[in-house]
Amino acid sequence: MKVSVFGAAAVLAAASSQVLAQSTCNQWAPCFREGYCDANAMFCLWGLCDPIKSFNSTACWQPEACATQTVNFDSAADAIPIKAYSGNPATNAFLSVFEPNHASVANGNLALQMTYDPAQKKGFGATVSASHTIQYGRTTARVKTASIAPGVVSAFIIRNDQTGDEIDFEWVGKSPNEVQTNFYFNNVLDYTKMVPYNVGGNTAADYHDYTIDWSPEALVWLVDGKVIRTVNRKDTFNPATNTYAYPTSKSRIAFSIWDGGNSGAQGTQEWSGYPTPWGANTMYQMLVDSVQISCGGDATHPPTTPPTTPPVTPSGTPPSSVYPTALPSTSPVSPPQKCIPRPKYY
Ligand SMILES: *[C@@H]1O[C@H](CO)[C@@H](O)[C@H](O)[C@H]1NC(C)=O
Repeated sequence: MKVSVFGAAAVLAAASSQVLAQSTCNQWAPCFREGYCDANAMFCLWGLCDPIKSFNSTACWQPEACATQTVNFDSAADAIPIKAYSGNPATNAFLSVFEPNHASVANGNLALQMTYDPAQKKGFGATVSASHTIQYGRTTARVKTASIAPGVVSAFIIRNDQTGDEIDFEWVGKSPNEVQTNFYFNNVLDYTKMVPYNVGGNTAADYHDYTIDWSPEALVWLVDGKVIRTVNRKDTFNPATNTYAYPTSKSRIAFSIWDGGNSGAQGTQEWSGYPTPWGANTMYQMLVDSVQISCGGDATHPPTTPPTTPPVTPSGTPPSSVYPTALPSTSPVSPPQKCIPRPKYY
């Protein structure tokens, strides 16, 4: 299931109807994102900010290099709301990208919570994204999911919102003992590549180590150190487009919780389970105990020329689940006023 890490599909759709002329941002609100200008990380962060429509060529922040590190969520500074982020990834490893903020550091965990939003008639969850980028490397997240009820979706993904490259671990409340792996290339919504794996117990009851090992040659998913799936780049060649359907672009690690049961899309509901049980005080929570990141070489891109003899179509059993057919409707941030200068930032 494709999750828009930084911007909700709804925001993008709304913004496209109010697209501004180029270079409308001024020097006090220099960063352009989805039809609006402002000066904070929500607008200026690499991957969110549109360098063409921003004030000038240096308005958008540069991508932060990958950092080999372990984040234990022992300090509140390990995950903060994106608007409070000053741009130093060494200080804040993760950023909560939605408002209101439903993510916090508590008891040595990153907690992503989802509560009911009566206005939208669905759960409002959280998305937390790394301040650093990653372009190949090994990431292990120790996670206790929120899979205790149908419709509740937990996710650990590596994604580039611009290119639509994405590598996933996802858990749906409908199948509490299962983790699903998937990957996307170039925004192609091909849900048939999802493969489920039975973890052997409710993923919301215990922590497990979920690893994405991403190299130029292969994508490997591991659970508790055991390889559960491997996709070789050479096997993703598509002769029709003469490309490898394989994620290669600079991305961000992210975690999210959202309400698939009230997504409004039938395919998504069937995939996640529904109805999502909501009571007056219901709160669903996904916990991340730690994230271990080991960077791969950013410079080790494989040659992009296809092989002279395309590989045969990979064989294998297609996953049995029902696939979602539409983007989840994640909760949008409230947009600031259109291109109003904000001198207070200077
Ligand atoms: C972009 O604008 C800022 C703020 O006015 C300025 O400091 C910077 O030098 C400009 N960069 C370019 C490439 O013009």
